[in-house]
Amino acid sequence: MVFGTTYRGRLRHLTFTSRRGRNRRKATFQTLIAAAGIQPGQRVLDVGCGTGYFVRLISAALGPSGFAVGIDPSPAMVEYARRRAAGITTSQFQAGNAEALGFPDDYFDVVVSSLVMHHLPEDLRTRALL
Ligand SMILES: C[S@@+](CC[C@H](N)C(=O)[O-])C[C@H]1O[C@@H](n2cnc3c(N)ncnc32)[C@H](O)[C@@H]1O
Repeated sequence: MVFGTTYRGRLRHLTFTSRRGRNRRKATFQTLIAAAGIQPGQRVLDVGCGTGYFVRLISAALGPSGFAVGIDPSPAMVEYARRRAAGITTSQFQAGNAEALGFPDDYFDVVVSSLVMHHLPEDLRTRALL
């Protein structure tokens, strides 16, 4: 991930691409998986999945009998996430918004979302959390 040549850009580049940065990101998401109580065999939704990194880790935690779905309104993100998860048969990515989920109630055992809610205007945020 390259953010540019400014000092701030270089700092972010180092943060996300160094080995320590990657390990820290993985540890953070593993902590979130544990905190969400995700168990093998469950169905899990990640709202605003971005690159699909979290979904890939969740799929590993769910094992072969579980299923993880990532949704994101950005077609480019969905396409990227699909490419990165190619070969993981227990995950799926599709276009979708937090405020208008297209799944039946109780379809998922766990719903997670990371770094998304602050992107939504307040009225949509409230709807997304209902
Ligand atoms: C900062 S990224 C976080 C990506 C990922 N969850 C992570 O933690 O790495 C924010 C994501 O929220 C998505 N997003 C923006 N508006 C959204 C909405 N209304 N519903 C769901 N996702 C949304 C963006 O497309 C983007 O992929």
